[in-house]
Amino acid sequence: MAKLLTGKPVAAAVKAALKDLIAANSLQPRMLLIQAGADPASEFYVQNIVSNGAKLGCEVILRSLPADVSQAQLLDCVEGANLDPSVHGIMIQKPLPAGIDDNLIGSAIDPRKDLDCLNPQNLGKIILEAPGPLPCTPLAALCTLKYYQIPIQGRHVVIIGRSSIVGKPLANMLLWKKPFANASVTVCHSRSQNLAELTQTADILIAAIGKPEFVKQDLIKENCVLLDVGINAVVDAQGKQSYVGDIDFNSCQDKALAITPVPGGIGSVTTSLLFLNLVQACLAAQGVNKNIDDFLGLIFDAEKKEITP
Ligand SMILES: NC(=O)c1ccc[n+]([C@@H]2O[C@H](COP(=O)([O-])OP(=O)(O)OC[C@H]3O[C@@H](n4cnc5c(N)ncnc54)[C@H](OP(=O)(O)O)[C@@H]3O)[C@@H](O)[C@H]2O)c1
Repeated sequence: MAKLLTGKPVAAAVKAALKDLIAANSLQPRMLLIQAGADPASEFYVQNIVSNGAKLGCEVILRSLPADVSQAQLLDCVEGANLDPSVHGIMIQKPLPAGIDDNLIGSAIDPRKDLDCLNPQNLGKIILEAPGPLPCTPLAALCTLKYYQIPIQGRHVVIIGRSSIVGKPLANMLLWKKPFANASVTVCHSRSQNLAELTQTADILIAAIGKPEFVKQDLIKENCVLLDVGINAVVDAQGKQSYVGDIDFNSCQDKALAITPVPGGIGSVTTSLLFLNLVQACLAAQGVNKNIDDFLGLIFDAEKKEITP
């Protein structure tokens, strides 16, 4: 039976380190969270961000815009926050309504206030290993591996999914020349031929596909580590809704060494890292620059003794 890599202790470690940093530096981090339209899943995430902010001592200003908001209005909203020195970070809740150009909105965010790495400048920094905010979901995958002391260096990591928000940045982060990365990475997608041949060679397989329980036992190698980024709403025969990942947990848990659950896995780490980016931006506004190595040291080094992989 695979070890369960739950997200809760990872998020708790992140939040504890952030609380210490906020207190030690007398920070008053402030985020503008922009939501457009009333997507039910988004509503859940938005409330989660607001309540986490309150617990951490970070102010979250929620700007709820109607589903028919124009691109110009959205850009105005972002521009206003860019110019407001009391706002340290901007988060755009996805999905945005149809007709809005996500890339244009992401590009409009001041790179210093870009909490989910939507600005192309920040995405480019990932390739260069230059300091900057990192996208929360890929960082959640890295933090989960680090927390559970799963070696990445020299391992073959296969990612299924090449989106700009998960698969591509994560692949580049895993390639970093850093002790907590240094992986050999393969990225697969819907046009990959012989998917099983590729995934069966993975020491660590990461699924970010958006298809419920897509990864079955025959796609994985014995004793691999499985990270499930997918969050898919499914409805059973009785009409009851629940969430499952992109990995078929039941069929894979007997073959894998370790696996993240859904819900309660990568998704539960993601929000804490949004606040890491906020605290990083708030510190930078005060002239204190901390990079990801600093943060990972602060979060995980103190925890080492308590970790039981
Ligand atoms: N945990 C979190 O915090 C978090 C955050 C963001 C997203 N998510 C979840 O993660 C999942 C992926 O999100 P996303 O935004 O990256 O999705 P996305 O933009 O739809 O990308 C999905 C990727 O999966 C690939 N794919 C689709 N069908 C495939 C198949 N049959 N074989 C191989 N590859 C296939 C696609 O290939 P092509 O490029 O060829 O189309 C694409 O690259 C979703 O379930 C989403 O809800 C979770």
